[in-house]
Amino acid sequence: MSSILHTSATDTIDFDSIKRLTADEAKAVDSLIINQLSSDVLLINQMGHYIVNNGGKRLRPMLLLLAAKALGQINHNHLVLAAVIEFIHTATLLHDDVVDESDLRRGQQSANAVWGNAASVLVGDYLYSSAFEMMVRTNIMRVMEILSKTTTAIAEGEVLQLLNCNNPETTEEKYLEVISRKTAILFSAATRLAAVVSNANAEVEEKLSQYGQHLGIAFQLIDDALDYKATKEELGKNLGDDLAEGKPTLPLIYAIKNSSLSEANVIIDAIKNGNRDAFNEVYAIVKSSKAIEYTEQRANEEAQKAMAALDVLPNSEYKQALLALASFSVQRSY
Ligand code: IPE
Ligand code: IPE
Ligand code: MG
Ligand code: MG
Repeated sequence: MSSILHTSATDTIDFDSIKRLTADEAKAVDSLIINQLSSDVLLINQMGHYIVNNGGKRLRPMLLLLAAKALGQINHNHLVLAAVIEFIHTATLLHDDVVDESDLRRGQQSANAVWGNAASVLVGDYLYSSAFEMMVRTNIMRVMEILSKTTTAIAEGEVLQLLNCNNPETTEEKYLEVISRKTAILFSAATRLAAVVSNANAEVEEKLSQYGQHLGIAFQLIDDALDYKATKEELGKNLGDDLAEGKPTLPLIYAIKNSSLSEANVIIDAIKNGNRDAFNEVYAIVKSSKAIEYTEQRANEEAQKAMAALDVLPNSEYKQALLALASFSVQRSY
């Protein structure tokens, strides 16, 4: 898959060329991941390889590696932490597909669809624990502090989201609180950890963390727009999963406020009842209220903030790649 990324009006970078900038390191990270998946419990091996080999974007480790390269040399701890971050991400996806009752992920049956909910929850737990085992090997207290706070915040975000489900009164502010925790904090941890392991100064660490945080918010805003407007083939996930769950994401929150009373009521009912059958009707209202444009505009603002935070880095092809990935997060279709 390849798409053209625009870092500014004149400058474009291809996603595959960005990937190539950290290709060797990404290979080393993949070896660490594969090694860590070897367990004498067969199901863990099977599920682990199924998930890891089926084509995730590996965006979070890429961000960590690019940030590390933008700061100087990559060392072994960067590679370990890139693997840790992808493990945590994968664990959240295993749990997420159970909670969301999603049966398609990365263009294939989700793990819960193949092995069932119990296996997904338990192997998700295994991946979390395994990530912490790897993390401890760095023997850096700050790293452990950052990652344990991160996983706690992710869990809080997921629980907050659960509380908002079927509640059409959820505000944009509450929604942002959820996505900051469930998604953005892991992006932020990835780029912050690059700085910590590179012994960067406090300002650089803070700015890189802000970059990850804003980029992560942009990324989830677009994910929530794509749940309505993408194509299933390109996205590799079912559309309408959010609606089926009664999840009040920004496209719906905005559409309720910017449509007629009767249209708003259609959306309110669909949120209350978690109704996938209402998808076409809801999507038509979402579209005519310009809620997708609004969500994309908000994502764009976050991406701009992410880019601004990189001012602290000296110019390099790695910095340019980080800038381009902020654009990618907004322009992506998968
Ligand atoms: C999916 O993340 C979960 C969200 C935070 C929206 P990605 O889109 O990065 O998932 P993969 O790893 O590429 O499949
Ligand atoms: C992302 O939420 C999951 C986490 C950040 C844990 P979603 O439920 O929107 O992600 P997808 O759309 O299923 O990938
Ligand atoms: Mg989901
Ligand atoms: Mg989603």
